[in-house]
Order: sequence, then C-alpha cells, then structure tokens
Amino acid sequence: MTGQVHIIDHPLVQHKLTLMRRKDTSTKSFRQLVHELSALLAYEVTRDMPMQEVEIETPLERTTGRVIDGKKIVLASILRAGNGFLDGMLEVVPSARVGHIGLFRDPATLQAVEYYFKMPSGMEERDVIVLDPMLATGNSAVAAVNRLKACQPRSLRFVCLVTCPEGIATFHRHHPDVPIYTPAVDRGLNEHGYIVPGLGDAGDRIFGTK
Ligand code: URA
Repeated sequence: MTGQVHIIDHPLVQHKLTLMRRKDTSTKSFRQLVHELSALLAYEVTRDMPMQEVEIETPLERTTGRVIDGKKIVLASILRAGNGFLDGMLEVVPSARVGHIGLFRDPATLQAVEYYFKMPSGMEERDVIVLDPMLATGNSAVAAVNRLKACQPRSLRFVCLVTCPEGIATFHRHHPDVPIYTPAVDRGLNEHGYIVPGLGDAGDRIFGTK
C-alpha cells in the first residue's frame, strides 16, 4: 500500500510559500506568512472530515444542518516548529484541542527519542492533525505517529509546508495509512538533512533563533 500525498497547489498557498522560501524574508514576515498559510492548510486538511446531520431551529423554523462528527479535532504539534502552525489553524478550527510531542535526535543512534508527550483524553473518538513544517528525513514524523497510534485516534493526517521524496518514502513505509498534506515536494535532502531548495530551518525562521 502506498500512502496518499495531497499537494495543496492553491495560488494563495504557493504565493505565500514562495515568499517564505526567500532568504531575505524577515522573521516578522516569515511568522506572519506561516500564520496565514496555516489557516489555508487547515481548510484543506479538514476538507474530508466526517460530518453528521443535526436538527437545529433557525429564528423561522426547524431544519437540519451538518456539523463535524465526533469529539473535537486534535492539533498535534511536533515541537518546536509545529507550534508555528497553531495560531493560524486555531483561527479556522477554534475549538480544536492541542497536543504536543517533543522529540530529540540521539546523536549516537540518530533515532528520535521522546522527551514530552501530552494529548487530550478521549483520543479514540478524535481526528488528529499532526503538524511539522518540514517532513525531511521523516524520522521524527514516524516516531510521533507511532506514539499517536498507541492512543488509537479515529484518524490521523500529517501536514507540512515542504517535504521531499526521501521524507515521503520513509513516512509512508511506516505509515501508509496516514495521508500527507503539503504545498511542496522539493528535490531532496542535503548532507545535513536539510530539504533543498527548502526554506532553511523552519523553527529558527519562525522563532528568530538563528
Ligand atoms: N528541518 C528544518 O527546519 N528544515 C529542513 O530543511 C529540514 C528539517
């Protein structure tokens, strides 16, 4: 089974991503752009969420409407760059719950090691959107989804800003059932594990820590 990759090629998304890639884009502008892009990505990634029909009463009469089915969506941020998506996505999905996953790379084994994991209760009835701007080697994304699957959420989706063929292959080798939503699949990884052409270190660019 090969996993699904949804390319988000809306002109507004592509335009903002291009501005973010430029090396002379300031921290302030980068942060603003990631905020705006997050809202657009949230719109795309929630497109096929299951819905249920409910009875409501307008000021004029009874009718039915559709609402998202199940408990609230969970935005699962892979620290720290995933946090850059939160404010923009919460503007579109204001009642979403937020979980955090902290991972670091063991310098000896190069494996992702978890140092923090906190999710809301009732995960069995929730749809999870995993957030990490750069799906590069795929190792931390695989580890994060391994851990999330142990919570048995109803569904999982992965959202990033930029990925590459290596990241997609590693991720879907382990998790072919989790679709990836991304505006861009770049050429590949360089010798330092950065996506090229990419946009640099997303966390540093969001938080101004370079
Ligand atoms: N993480 C980043 O922030 N950028 C990359 O290119 C790869 C991993």
